[in-house]
Amino acid sequence: MTDVQEMLFDEHTIADKVREIAARISADYAGKELVLICILKGAAVFTADLMRHLALPVTVEFIQAASYGASTTSSKNIAVVKCGEIDISGKHVLLVDAIIDTGETMACLFNAFVKRGPASLKAVALLDKRSRRTANVSVKYCGFEIPDKFVVGYGMDYGEKHRNLPYIAVIKTTQ
Ligand code: IMP
Ligand code: MG
Repeated sequence: MTDVQEMLFDEHTIADKVREIAARISADYAGKELVLICILKGAAVFTADLMRHLALPVTVEFIQAASYGASTTSSKNIAVVKCGEIDISGKHVLLVDAIIDTGETMACLFNAFVKRGPASLKAVALLDKRSRRTANVSVKYCGFEIPDKFVVGYGMDYGEKHRNLPYIAVIKTTQ
């Protein structure tokens, strides 16, 4: 694929990390039930893999936040597009995203969901571009910290493409 520049994490490296994160979550929430909220579309693949390694009673919900579209720059105007009637009152909730960039999306979702009275609310992301953070948000579980490069694969897209790659790669952009 011509626009994929450099592989960052191969399938096995990702699988090992997902299992490691799942083990930490399973230990931390032992004896509790957990609601996973998957932030579509990017976290679909990560959520599907993560949930299958959780040794807990789990329910899963799906929401969609405003996306970059075909751009690689972030926006502070995040809208929750699909939120549904998810009742999280008194429940332990984990927001699941594939990647935290500026953190604005996760901060906005935290604000929205904390108002619904969960017993606890935390976040998990496979990737973290920590150097780009502008929002004050805490991500309890994080797989890999990555440099400020635009990545695709394992659910993540550039202009809706490359979500299906089983690995994570840096993409060439013209910007
Ligand atoms: P934030 O609000 O800036 O933290 O952006 C988070 C969202 O932007 C993620 O849920 C992704 O959908 C998208 N995103 C951020 N960085 C990348 C990237 O490198 N590749 C693909 N999507 C990204
Ligand atoms: Mg996107």
